Amino acid sequence: MKNVLITGGAGFIGSNFVRHLLNMEENIHAFNLDALTYAGSLENLKDLPFPQHHTFINGSILDQEFLNGLFQKHQIDTIVHFAAESHVDRSILGPGQFVQTNIVGTFTLLEAARKFWLQDNHWDHHQVRFHHISTDEVFGSLAPGQPAWTEETSYAPNSPYAASKASSDHLVRSYGHTYDLPYTITNCSNNYGPYQFPEKLIPLIILNAIEEKPLPVYGDGQQVRDWLHVEDHCSAIHLVLTKGLAGSTFNIGGDNQPANLTIVETICDILDERKPRANGIPHRDLIRFVKDRPGHDRRYDMDAGKIRRELGWQPRHNLTDGLLDTVNWYLTHPEWVLAIRKQLEYQSWLAKNYDTREKTS
Ligand code: NAD
Ligand code: TYD
Repeated sequence: MKNVLITGGAGFIGSNFVRHLLNMEENIHAFNLDALTYAGSLENLKDLPFPQHHTFINGSILDQEFLNGLFQKHQIDTIVHFAAESHVDRSILGPGQFVQTNIVGTFTLLEAARKFWLQDNHWDHHQVRFHHISTDEVFGSLAPGQPAWTEETSYAPNSPYAASKASSDHLVRSYGHTYDLPYTITNCSNNYGPYQFPEKLIPLIILNAIEEKPLPVYGDGQQVRDWLHVEDHCSAIHLVLTKGLAGSTFNIGGDNQPANLTIVETICDILDERKPRANGIPHRDLIRFVKDRPGHDRRYDMDAGKIRRELGWQPRHNLTDGLLDTVNWYLTHPEWVLAIRKQLEYQSWLAKNYDTREKTS
């Protein structure tokens, strides 16, 4: 691993991974390719460690010619592919962009890798790696009592987002099977932590609560996600990249499965301690149950036994401390919050998703 192409490295997980990689690897150069959609921001890349080992490139994974030139120019030998449309609610209101970015974009990137590594240069298979970042949502939804998903579980994606990610996973696997392209895939559960765009549950609730806005809980709030701190996801990806066998997939999860309502209430309680409201009323008073997400998956649960056993991965953060740290991060980075929140696109998204979602209590 010398010249690493990180796609989507100006987004939430990608920017955390860029930091992780620069701290862990002395002899690499990170080429960070990002189209800077609403979800990507150079604000996420301020104060990087070892910035001389990082180059930001503004461009799209959908541009085949540009990608071919980039592989050639920078002699890319490793890809860590994060770039995607990543929000389920947006995929429900506008699935077309998910098909483009997540499916066609992954295909375009695979073609660039196949051409440069296998067709033009016949590079040794041990020299190259395509690592694809995927999600637990490809497995669908669990009923109460059903066992956690393993790497052997069949895909059953429910939302357009999940279906587009499942499709991209299948494309990556097929390039391994058909062309012998060395790949690995990780399917991870819900992440939280610094730099997460405030359309996702945890940062949305933190920022709304700070601003005394309603805290929207979809349906009955009893849906369950398997929350993992983003730094633990990054350490897992790094392990798979350096020690995972080509052609293998790994599930990553946090073993933290409180219901959404419990997450929201916990954030409220942390803020009551850290930043009480001027009127003295607890933040929980801002919680509003609103119309449910169509096709809302009920429960996710990942069995991360394989990566623990085979690669010795261990998450470092528990959810209690991780949530406390995350609330503190948003409270102590008002300039980041301001830069993200003032985007017109973000304001219009909030209006589109929430103004029409009537309250149920
Ligand atoms: P994000 O939405 O914060 O970031 C996505 C990044 O991709 C943005 O910087 C955006 O500008 C960039 N991008 C979008 N289209 C692009 C294009 N055509 N070319 C280049 N860059 C483009 O997403 P995230 O939460 O950081 O997720 C990153 C990856 O991890 C995604 O593939 C997602 O499916 C996966 N994932 C996310 C989670 C989670 O909880 N957030 C969990 C498991 C897996
Ligand atoms: P989200 O952060 O969008 O992640 P995902 O849909 O990929 O799991 O949502 C996490 C959970 O929180 C999900 O069950 C939907 C729910 N949710 C709300 O109840 N209210 C909200 O405003 C949002 C954004 C999500």
